[in-house]
Amino acid sequence: MERFDPPEALRRSANVTAETIDSVARNRLDFWARQAGRLDWDAPFREVLDWSQAPFARWFVGGRLNTAYNCVDRHVEAGLGERVALQFVGEPGDERTITYRELQEQVCRAANALERLGVKAGDPVAIYMPMIPETVVAMLACARIGAPHTVVFGGFSADALASRILDFGATVVVTADGGYRRGAASPLKPAVDEALPRCPRVRTVLVVRRTGQDVGWVQGRDVWWHDALGDVPATHTPIAFDSEHPLFVMYTSGTTGKPKGILHTTAGYLVQAAFTFWGVFDHKPDDVYWCTADVGWITGHSYVVYGPLAAGATQVLYEGTPDTPHRGRWWEIIERHRVSLFYTAPTAIRTCMKWGEEYPADHDLSSLRVLGTVGESINPEAYRWFRRHIGGDRAPIVDTWWQTETGAHMISPLPGVTSAKPGAAMRPLPGISADVVDDDGKPVPAGESGYLVLTEPWPAMARTIWNDPERFRETYWSRWPGYYFAGDGARRDEDGDIWLLGRVDDVMNVSGHRLSTVEIESALVSHPRVAEAAVVGASDETTGQAVVAYVILRESGADSDQAALAEELRRHVAKEIGPIAKPRRVLIVAELPKTRSGKIMRRLLRDVAENRVVGDATTLADSSVMDQIRVGMAAAE
Ligand code: WTA
Repeated sequence: MERFDPPEALRRSANVTAETIDSVARNRLDFWARQAGRLDWDAPFREVLDWSQAPFARWFVGGRLNTAYNCVDRHVEAGLGERVALQFVGEPGDERTITYRELQEQVCRAANALERLGVKAGDPVAIYMPMIPETVVAMLACARIGAPHTVVFGGFSADALASRILDFGATVVVTADGGYRRGAASPLKPAVDEALPRCPRVRTVLVVRRTGQDVGWVQGRDVWWHDALGDVPATHTPIAFDSEHPLFVMYTSGTTGKPKGILHTTAGYLVQAAFTFWGVFDHKPDDVYWCTADVGWITGHSYVVYGPLAAGATQVLYEGTPDTPHRGRWWEIIERHRVSLFYTAPTAIRTCMKWGEEYPADHDLSSLRVLGTVGESINPEAYRWFRRHIGGDRAPIVDTWWQTETGAHMISPLPGVTSAKPGAAMRPLPGISADVVDDDGKPVPAGESGYLVLTEPWPAMARTIWNDPERFRETYWSRWPGYYFAGDGARRDEDGDIWLLGRVDDVMNVSGHRLSTVEIESALVSHPRVAEAAVVGASDETTGQAVVAYVILRESGADSDQAALAEELRRHVAKEIGPIAKPRRVLIVAELPKTRSGKIMRRLLRDVAENRVVGDATTLADSSVMDQIRVGMAAAE
């Protein structure tokens, strides 16, 4: 078996070594209590974990602290005010260097501005922004005043934004005129303007000027960020909040059409984000870290904002796409800013692989010392390429398994400890308990596959689904008593190492982003021409999976141009949900394969989409359906 050992120097000097693991792993709660020492507390906690209301956990019970103070002010107080917090790189090439002292001033001003606009502790705030420093500032300002935020990815549509604002109950939205993507100013504010007539509770929109493009303006509702911040004091006294005070809600796709608002609270989330950032990336004070994820996803929350800033890290924040203005952009940034810790997604690595190794070869990447991936398993080929062409066959790769719901890394190699196997997430981190079980919830024997479960609560665990605690219990905790079911299949190999095998539910993974088949089906059915739709994730060389949709039209579509209609339906999905959900293919079919009880057999549709021999179709109500679909497909090609 191919394995990569930690470099000898790292084995000795890493933050987490084999010896420290042995000593910490003995008592889980003691371990986490010690990790809580990474934060500054205004009041100590009485109890590490209260699990008496399981699955609704309370961690660090009775403790009080302020997240923004922990991410910013305390570093300034410790004399690190001149350390760079954010090295911003705009897509057009503009750069801004923001020290911890400057970040503190910005966060204080933003906190004062929000308070002046009437935002109080507990008031939900929605954030819909490009990847610019103000996004980080807005999140920290909310945290500072105890206003939970929900960041909605800037690639989501007005509809997706509206439904999140409504479910969250936001009264204030922070946005920007736009951001730069693929060499052009891409507007954001129009989507807010389109969403808000449906969201009557929103009374204020704070607008950051980034691109300078023209924006519509609603008097009395819209306020320029620079006006609001310019008008208030540059200092602000943080208030301490309870450990379980809501920090943010992140919406994620589930197996139904309605996204779930995953709630994370203050102390447990921050403790685990801080510990894992420090341990899994082996962060040292002089490192320069860069995570390419957008702040609109959980990875951006835990590993752009909260984890790195709690650790006082210096990091790169890049606004744009990897190939603007050229395909060497990322490597140029790493060289220019001497990035030492680099965290990205397998889909991005596969794209860079396709472009060719001459792009990274043009740059000095010798500053890199630890590489990380997230979003899906990294296939061994991409792993080897990443290791060789980016990591110089020197930097270890950490393949981090975790989810929106877990809040922080759960299963991952440790760079100074693990002899890593390409494609395996390896072992649960210290303080984390995971297993691979069969249908009856019994651990599978070595070498077999089953379902990944988390067998003990962990600090950064989701606390509930916003507005729907019953769905939280039902979705994650009902399959096997006491176990959290992650929705992923996994295999435990002969050595006890864990390999992730992908989702076992109706959730797709496209470029590391979770998309629900049902949500896309609902979007398709909302089109007047569509009677019924079935969506599957078909494997794709670059994006991992790609969305393939099969639709039945309302009336005979024979008279219309099917190719044009298919294109219109693709655009319709992009408009309803966002461009990331746009199907790669839409196939117009006469029938869908269904069981006698009426359940769509997506497995068969996946076979067709992946050009495989169609599997067992004996449970179909009408066995000729698959033949018709195959013939239709061939005709469309
Ligand atoms: C998948 C992203 C294999 C998995 C942080 C999980 C992975 C879902 C890995 C969560 C990995 C994430 N190996 N699969 N290293 N990382 N996944 O909520 O299916 O956007 O359930 O969180 O991504 O996606 P989410």
